Amino acid sequence: MTPTEHKAFLATLQTIVGTANVLTEGDLSAWELDWRKRERGRALAVVRPASTDEVAHVVQACAAAQVSLVPQGGNTGMVVGSTPDATGTQVVLSLARMNRIRQLDAANLTVTVEAGCVLQTLQEACAAAGFLYPLSMASEGSCTVGGNLGTNAGGTQVVRYGNARELCLGLEVVTAEGEVWNGLSGLRKDNTGYDLRHLFIGSEGTLGVITAATMKLFPMPKSMMTAFASVPSLDAAVELLGLAHQHLSAGLTGFEVMGQFALRLVRKHFPQQNIPFAGDEPFCVVLELSDHDSETHARALLEGLLEEALQDGCVLDAVVAENIAQARALWHIRESIPLAQAQEGLNIKHDISIAVSRIPDFVRETDAAIQEAFPGARMVNYGHLGDGNLHYNVQAPEGADAEAFLREQEKPMNALVYAQVDRYNGSISAEHGIGSLKREKLAEHKSPVALALMRSIKLALDPHNLMNPGRTLKL
Ligand code: FAD
Ligand code: MLT
Ligand code: ZN
Repeated sequence: MTPTEHKAFLATLQTIVGTANVLTEGDLSAWELDWRKRERGRALAVVRPASTDEVAHVVQACAAAQVSLVPQGGNTGMVVGSTPDATGTQVVLSLARMNRIRQLDAANLTVTVEAGCVLQTLQEACAAAGFLYPLSMASEGSCTVGGNLGTNAGGTQVVRYGNARELCLGLEVVTAEGEVWNGLSGLRKDNTGYDLRHLFIGSEGTLGVITAATMKLFPMPKSMMTAFASVPSLDAAVELLGLAHQHLSAGLTGFEVMGQFALRLVRKHFPQQNIPFAGDEPFCVVLELSDHDSETHARALLEGLLEEALQDGCVLDAVVAENIAQARALWHIRESIPLAQAQEGLNIKHDISIAVSRIPDFVRETDAAIQEAFPGARMVNYGHLGDGNLHYNVQAPEGADAEAFLREQEKPMNALVYAQVDRYNGSISAEHGIGSLKREKLAEHKSPVALALMRSIKLALDPHNLMNPGRTLKL
C-alpha cells in the first residue's frame, strides 16, 4: 500500500465508524498484546464498529484494499489468535462496541445478543430476568460472546450444559466478502441443509465475523451448592466423579480438579484466600450441585454423596459452602489458578482432553517422563475433570529464567506431552483453540483428510485469505 492509498484507506474506515473509532496512535497494547504476553503485534489500525452494518462496510473496505482482519472480543484468548501479527498491515476489528442484548425470549428460552457483549454482563442480565446463562469461566468479566463462540469456549459448567457450541441456536455473521448472513432463528429444530453455524463456531475468526448470536437459556436452579474436597489421588477424583454422576445425575453442574502445586501457587500469590485443608493433599476437587427442588433437598443429596465418598476412601476431607459468599470464595480459589500461574511467570500450557477413565494413567506416565527429561519442571495440573479436560501446564523449575526455559524447552516439552496425548487418543486443544501457538502442532496431529477438508472450507468461505490469516490453519 502506498502512503496515499494508506491515507485513503484510513479515511474510508473513518467515514464508516467515525474518526474516534479508528485507532492508529498511542498505546495500543490492549489490542496488540495477547493476554499471556506471548506475542506483541502491530496493527495498521484498531477499528471499533457499533453495528452489523458498520462491520459489513469495514470488511468490504478491507476486501477492496486486500487488507486482512483480526476479529477481537475481550482479547483473553490463550493461543495468540486475537492480536495482529508484527507486520503493521492488519486491521484489528474490535467488536467491543457491539454489546447490546437484542432480545430475551422467555417462552423460547433464548437470548439474542451482540458479539461484543461481555459474558458476565450477559449472565447478570439473564439472571435478573430469572434465567441461567450457564457459560462460565474465570475470564467472564472481560471475554465476550463473540470470542466464546469464536473459540467454542468451555469453562466450568460444561459437564452439565455443554460448551459454547451446544448453547448456540443461531448466528449472525458478516462473511469475508462483507455480506450479512442472518441465521438468528432461535429454532431448536432446523434440518434445511448444511448447518452453517457450526462452521463459524470454533473457527477463531478465520471464516467470518460473528456479529450476534441466539443462545439457550435455562431456568434458574432453586439452590446451588458447592463442595471442596481433598482426594488422595487422581484415581480417587475419577471415582468421586462417578459417584457424583450417580448421586446427582443432571444436578452435577461443575466438577473441577486442582493439583497440589496449582493450589500452592494460589496460596503464594493470593495469600488472602482461605484455602481449606493443609496443602499437602495430592489433589482437591470443587464440585457443584444445582437443584430445582430446594436447598434442603440439595444439601441432603450432596451430604449423601460425600458420606459415601468418605466411607469409600475416595475423599479424605470435604467442606460444603454454607452460603453464597462461601460458595463464591471456594470457586474463586479454582479460578485464581491461571492468574497465579501468570504471576509466577511465563509458562507452557497444554489444554488437553482425554477419556476421563484414562486420565490418571496419562498423568502418572507423563509426569514421570517430564521429570526425567526436564528435571525440576513444575507441573501446574488442574482443570475440568468432569469433561476429561486437563490444563496440564508446566512452570519453569524454581529459580530458573522462565523466558529461557520456554525458548529452549517449550518445543521438546510439547512434543513429549502431545505424543502422549496421541497415544491416549486425546485432543491437543480441548477448549482454547489453535490460534498461532498450536498451528504447527495441528498439522502434526490432525489427519491429512481432515486438514484437506478444513482447507477447502477456508478457501470456499475466504478465498483471498483475509480473515485472521495464519491462525488455526496453514494454507
Ligand atoms: P478473544 O481473545 O478476543 O478472541 C479469541 C478468538 O476468537 C480469536 O481467534 C478471535 O479472532 C476470535 N473472535 C473473537 N471475537 C470474534 C467474533 N466476533 N467473530 C469471529 N471471531 C471472533 N477458555 C475456556 O474455554 N475455558 C475456560 O475455563 C477459560 N478460562 C480462562 C481463564 C482466564 C483467566 C483467561 C484469561 C482465559 C480463559 N479462557 C478460557 C480463554 C478465553 O477467555 C476464552 O477463549 C474466551 O472465549 C475468549 O473470548 P474473548 O472475547 O476474549 O476472545
Ligand atoms: C481455566 O480453566 O482456568 C483456563 O481455561 C485455563 C488456563 O489458563 O489454562
Ligand atoms: Zn479451562
